Amino acid sequence: LSPIRVGLLGIGTVGSGTFNVLKRNQEEIRRRAGRGIEITMVADLDVARAQALVGDGVLVVDDARKVVASPDIDIVIELIGGYGIAKALVLEAIESGKHVVTANKALLAVHGTEIFAAAHRKGVMVAFEAAVAGGIPIIKALREGLSANSIQWIAGIINGTTNFILSEMRDKGLDFGVVLKEAQKLGYAEADPTFDIEGVDAAHKATLMSAIAFGIPVQFDKAYVEGITSLAAQDIRYAEQLGYRIKLLGITKRVAGGIELRVHPSLIPAKRLLANVEGAMNAVVVHGDAVGTTLYYGKGAGSEPTASAVIADLVDISRLHTADPEHRVPHLAFQPDEMSDLAI
Ligand code: HSE
Repeated sequence: LSPIRVGLLGIGTVGSGTFNVLKRNQEEIRRRAGRGIEITMVADLDVARAQALVGDGVLVVDDARKVVASPDIDIVIELIGGYGIAKALVLEAIESGKHVVTANKALLAVHGTEIFAAAHRKGVMVAFEAAVAGGIPIIKALREGLSANSIQWIAGIINGTTNFILSEMRDKGLDFGVVLKEAQKLGYAEADPTFDIEGVDAAHKATLMSAIAFGIPVQFDKAYVEGITSLAAQDIRYAEQLGYRIKLLGITKRVAGGIELRVHPSLIPAKRLLANVEGAMNAVVVHGDAVGTTLYYGKGAGSEPTASAVIADLVDISRLHTADPEHRVPHLAFQPDEMSDLAI
């Protein structure tokens, strides 16, 4: 099979991570996907910088529409972010029959119903593992790993920036503003960091988990959203003295007559696992009626952790949606004739 051709919209922190990991792990990824996966086109406003990152073999353009309209692209990765141009490009990609991989939780939490309906009509995938909890494969866990369960509730630390801020304020007594700047420098914070500190980013992610877990439309507008801006160092200290840690939690659960969806700072007993998730790490607890309580932990932001999720979606689409049945890779395993010769 010829390699699947991917067009990348936006080569910033996550885009460059995606390019680098795809290249570094090319052979293993090819075996898992059943065919090669190559980024053949990149759109970025800074063409010179982008070209320097990807080298001469990749076509770099400044107009993302060229990628979306190109007949030589099978999957579009949208890493522009925001609602405006990103939404138009995603819809255009779908209309032209391309699968879409996106890390854009804001876009999907607000316009997901329209976007998923368009994808359904065209028979293409919109995959968004990278949109929730970065590198933690929580979407796949909810959709596949836990598909036997009636999910009862989900509670998670799903914003790395605020968790980093709360951890640093507690451990080092640092000021809110100082730590936020550091989070921005490390590439954790959103382009508009108010989304992080006001709980909006966590609510976008909780909205998406809620939709997947409970089979409901995405309804960000119904979420209760409260961030960490009114927390003082004192609150954190008092909580500590009482044996608690303050964490910004995204919670969604089944309640009589409906689903609850909320984000707010929460007191967690200090000996609980969730209370000990520090720095920019994320953790999600899911309770299913059959499996009981499960916990997923990992990096929720950053270049390669998020790239890990983007590429997992590329692999999924390659093995399930672009190959004829004969070439489908039935499980995420190597084909028998391509087993690695690494000894055990
Ligand atoms: N701003 C987000 C965070 C990035 O801090 O978790 C990952 O979605």
